[in-house]
Amino acid sequence: MGVIFQSLGRTLLAGLVILVAIVVVTGALTGQPMKIDHAWSAFVMRWLHVLCGVMWIGLLWYLNFVQIPTMPKIPDPLKPAIGKHIAPEVLFWFRWGALATVVTGLLLAWMSGYLVDALLLKKGVHAIGIGMWMALIMAFNVWFIIWPNQQKALGLVDCPADQKPKAARMAMLTSRFNTMFSIGMLYCMVAQQNGGF
Ligand code: HEM
Repeated sequence: MGVIFQSLGRTLLAGLVILVAIVVVTGALTGQPMKIDHAWSAFVMRWLHVLCGVMWIGLLWYLNFVQIPTMPKIPDPLKPAIGKHIAPEVLFWFRWGALATVVTGLLLAWMSGYLVDALLLKKGVHAIGIGMWMALIMAFNVWFIIWPNQQKALGLVDCPADQKPKAARMAMLTSRFNTMFSIGMLYCMVAQQNGGF
């Protein structure tokens, strides 16, 4: 077991092996093996979409529930460890997770045949449409407000020292805005199929 869990790559691979085993065994037990058709492709896209969304919103909540409130309690000599090592890594997975969620979400809507209707908030797909617009605004915030300001605040790009606190505050407030939006956005995501409206 140690051999698997000491490596993240091997751990993820083990997760995939378990998934394949579940699908094969369930198919054998129910006598209904998986049919690879359009519905199945859309389902796999839905699964990928949720995985990417968990990566993105998980890190958004980590920043807001853990890192931001804990920073003031960390002794000054230890703070650079967060700014130089943890935060850049978090922001890497955070912003690419956001982009992957948008791409898989838009593909899912397209494969489900309602991409344009949902974006136009047409009746019947207005629930997912509202969720999609909220998530698109959040993703815009990640790439065009949070990330540029974090780059300044963390010293990843040149920025006069007196502007760093302003950049850090802008990133923090926008991250809070996204946390606020995430509540309703997630409701809309799950509402479309499950009668939440
Ligand atoms: C611009 C970004 C996004 C787009 C375009 C998008 C699009 C979609 C679409 C089209 C669906 C299928 C709805 C249905 O027919 O039932 C969906 C479901 C879902 N999305 Fe998103 N989404 C986005 C962001 C997110 C984010 C950030 C999360 C966070 C975890 C998320 C989580 C979910 C979940 C949990 C479902 C429900 C799956 C199900 O009930 O089977 N989405 N999304």
